Amino acid sequence: MSPRRTRILSGVQPSGKLHLGNYFGAIRQHIALQDDGECFFFIADFHALTTIQDRRHLAENVRAVALDYLALGLDPDRTAFFRQSDIPEVTELAWILSTVTGVGLLERAHSYKDKLARGISPSAGLFLYPVLMAADILIYRSNLVPVGQDQVQHIEMTRDMAGSFNQVYGRVFPLPEARLDRAPTVPGTDGKKMSKSYGNTIEIFAEGSALKNSVMRIVTDSTPVEAPKDPAKDNLFALYGLFATDSEREALAARYRSGGLGYGEVKKMLIQKIDAHFAPARAKRKELERHPSVVEAALRKGAERAGAEAKDTMRLVREAVGLR
Ligand code: ADP
Ligand code: TRP
Repeated sequence: MSPRRTRILSGVQPSGKLHLGNYFGAIRQHIALQDDGECFFFIADFHALTTIQDRRHLAENVRAVALDYLALGLDPDRTAFFRQSDIPEVTELAWILSTVTGVGLLERAHSYKDKLARGISPSAGLFLYPVLMAADILIYRSNLVPVGQDQVQHIEMTRDMAGSFNQVYGRVFPLPEARLDRAPTVPGTDGKKMSKSYGNTIEIFAEGSALKNSVMRIVTDSTPVEAPKDPAKDNLFALYGLFATDSEREALAARYRSGGLGYGEVKKMLIQKIDAHFAPARAKRKELERHPSVVEAALRKGAERAGAEAKDTMRLVREAVGLR
């Protein structure tokens, strides 16, 4: 028998329009890894219920994320691409994992603590979010989880849960590892981490005046045009660097240091870069939008593949814990 290929899995919440942080932190890796193992990528709609409680809004976001991924190069023939909620077994595994997970572990989750600090009154679902995420990863017995920096702690928690389960019931789960890209944390227009929840995003599929407006919002310091500037301290430079070649980046850094360069000019250069980089994906997305049945067929096919795997794992889990 040939050895099992590396299982690669990740999810993105359909909680708003996908942005450059999602792309450079996570989605670019997902697309690039499709030949490096057996890939499972999904739309985390169960997770999104912790923030979206409007059925039309949720359905529209799921549709949009599916279109985005397919337009950006996800190939449903090589990768299982599916809706999380099409695999209900994952909630069964989440329950079982919750019984081997200490409350203390969940209380230490940064993303949970951040939400509390922002004054959100937490639902039990928000508290249990990392358990469902661990179930997502473990139900496909995944080895590698490509994500941005903000998700690394959740993957460490997944390893803890898998370790506890294996210790109590015998080894069922491999311990997954996080995989980061070159840009593990992409800054938003205000310099903080770019995030749907901070309103500081530049959307992947923005074009025309919407794109221009979000780039123009990028906060820069008040150094006058003539003065030399430090590229390492500039958020705008960091964003430009995501799209530029090494020599383009070096050339712009030299212009920063020598003075005489205004931020307005760099913003125009950035708009051009974003516009050109995503032009093919924008065209493909428009085409796919005219064929919703193609998108639906891709998700169905992915759910079949993922569902078969989830059922196999749940047989092992039920046997291990003593459920028939
Ligand atoms: P958001 O924070 O905007 O709600 P998600 O939590 O849905 O985004 O993240 C989806 C994926 O994108 C995750 O792998 C996450 O780590 C990654 N990601 C999100 N924001 C960034 C960012 N600013 N830089 C790098 N990666 C990011
Ligand atoms: N929590 C992730 C996020 O907000 C989304 C997610 C859900 C996920 N389940 C996952 C990511 C499993 C990786 C693996 O970005």
